[in-house]
Amino acid sequence: MIAPSILSADFARLADELAAIQGADWVHVDVMDAHFVPNLTLGLPIVESLLKVTDIPMDCHLMIEDPDRWAVGYAEAGAHNVTVHAEAAGDPVKIARDIRAAGAKAGLSIKPGTPLEPYVEVLKEFDTLLVMSVEPGFGGQSFIADVLSKARAVRDLVDTGHLDLLVEIDGGINADTIEQAAEAGVDCFVAGSAVYGADDPGRAVRALREQAAS
Ligand code: DX5
Ligand code: ZN
Repeated sequence: MIAPSILSADFARLADELAAIQGADWVHVDVMDAHFVPNLTLGLPIVESLLKVTDIPMDCHLMIEDPDRWAVGYAEAGAHNVTVHAEAAGDPVKIARDIRAAGAKAGLSIKPGTPLEPYVEVLKEFDTLLVMSVEPGFGGQSFIADVLSKARAVRDLVDTGHLDLLVEIDGGINADTIEQAAEAGVDCFVAGSAVYGADDPGRAVRALREQAAS
């Protein structure tokens, strides 16, 4: 699955930018609050507007403090998937249950330096693990290959029946890096600059999907 990140899109033309990736599996929306990460993007009002102009399932990645308070609003608005950061979540189990009760899938994300082990137990409550392969905050950064060991470890837990979730990766995914992520067992690839920096974003999505499957 390919999830283009609109962080690298033209924010003045977001409806057109969503139309340009028709056929993508998910659209990844980065919510940043200038506290959990040193950047500020958009919040619930814009997500609500975007949901009205696209049928592509929306993958909301909340890089915010206090997701315990805010996550459920994105689920209620109609996001397909709402992902919170393990480093910011006060009570990840409650957040996951609230998100699911509101009708969305629940995701947990870990930054490159955050170990997986402390969260394995709570992952039973989640539908997605989002492994960050750059420090969250900005598009266009270089892929950190070290995080693939975490993707592999979760893949093993899924394949052996210990967990049932999708493994998603975010940051620095492009034609040069997607194959190693696919080999590590990633199911869903977020790509911002590799999609929206291309002349034809729709074609870039298809090319990445083919590469991941090869
Ligand atoms: C970074 C965001 C990513 C970002 C990825 O904090 O979470 O979703 O858009 O951008 P690229 O694909 O350019 O690394
Ligand atoms: Zn993201």
